[in-house]
Amino acid sequence: MERRTVGAAALGVGAIGLGCMPMSWAYSASEQDGESSLRAVHRALDRGTTLLDTADMYGPFTNELLLGRVLKERRADAFVATKGGLLAGEQHIVANGRPGYIRRACDASLRRLQTDCIDLYQLHRADPEVPVEETWGAMAELVSAGKVRALGLCALGARADRRTGASIHATTLRQLDRVQQVFPVSSVQAELSVWSREALDGLLPWCEARGVGFLAAMPLGNGFLTGTLTPGGGFEPDDVRARHPRFTAEMMAANQPIVACLRRVAERHGDATPAQVALAWLLAQGRHVVPVPGTKKETWAAENARAADLVLAADDLVEIGALPDAQGSWD
Ligand SMILES: NC(=O)c1ccc[n+]([C@@H]2O[C@H](COP(=O)([O-])OP(=O)(O)OC[C@H]3O[C@@H](n4cnc5c(N)ncnc54)[C@H](OP(=O)(O)O)[C@@H]3O)[C@@H](O)[C@H]2O)c1
Repeated sequence: MERRTVGAAALGVGAIGLGCMPMSWAYSASEQDGESSLRAVHRALDRGTTLLDTADMYGPFTNELLLGRVLKERRADAFVATKGGLLAGEQHIVANGRPGYIRRACDASLRRLQTDCIDLYQLHRADPEVPVEETWGAMAELVSAGKVRALGLCALGARADRRTGASIHATTLRQLDRVQQVFPVSSVQAELSVWSREALDGLLPWCEARGVGFLAAMPLGNGFLTGTLTPGGGFEPDDVRARHPRFTAEMMAANQPIVACLRRVAERHGDATPAQVALAWLLAQGRHVVPVPGTKKETWAAENARAADLVLAADDLVEIGALPDAQGSWD
């Protein structure tokens, strides 16, 4: 698989990563299956994927425990990207950016992952109660201590920005400028996909100008862009899509032209799939972009990894770029 470089620490990774969240979090728990998830991770590594994206909050904790079972055997094949600083509370998720907490969270992640060093430690959310420089300083100490190789920031604040009327990712861009003064940022992780393109303005150029890697979260539009979901098919109550405005039957039907476009492009490339076209479109947005498609299925992990071989033509990119904005938002 093509290799790409993640940011300041110049760490090499396979161009397509693996998002491990669906194995333990956010999607229907009744479909989670540890053994088949392990097979998916092994298959991705066999196909040249190296970056495994997880977080202590996924499960909570069980996703890192699962990956620990793989890493115990195949540490050299993997690039471990985990996250700290966000906890699942009784009612909602809570950020904790206090230095002492971050130090304890990192030690606990190392134990669960069965490794002595995390390749990329990402701040899952900035804590509004703690200056971000303080949190980042504690994370930088983890690098000095040899527990972590590089630092990343997650930027999933587009919705909050929209609510306050600020320009999208404005808060994150300010945070990035601040933490960059303390210790180099190696990666930014934010939503980016064919149907969520806000990061193309501001966030992606910020990364490119500074040699920072961009990890594209939710690159398959939570599964929508794969064309395998049926409008009105319904979701289990514990599946994040059951409450997602773009996954009502009406919005899924309204957004079918996006899937139809990915299908048309896929057909021009022989046996390619809409999922692979969605991932290849991301790879074409810059050499610093590494999509992290989430899956718990072996066949889909292999299909997604093969997207690294798909090079879209200029016409394909124009056709996808001309798609209208997706309908259905959180506002
Ligand atoms: N930093 C953050 O706060 C944050 C937030 C969200 C996500 N993320 C990261 O981004 C990763 C990706 O996001 P995501 O997993 O939510 O969304 P996604 O990658 O856009 O889509 C995942 C969904 O697509 C399905 N899928 C995957 N490959 C497929 C294929 N080839 N054909 C058909 N269906 C396919 C999966 O099904 P199965 O699960 O059944 O395999 C799952 O339902 C996460 O795993 C996580 O690592 C980070």
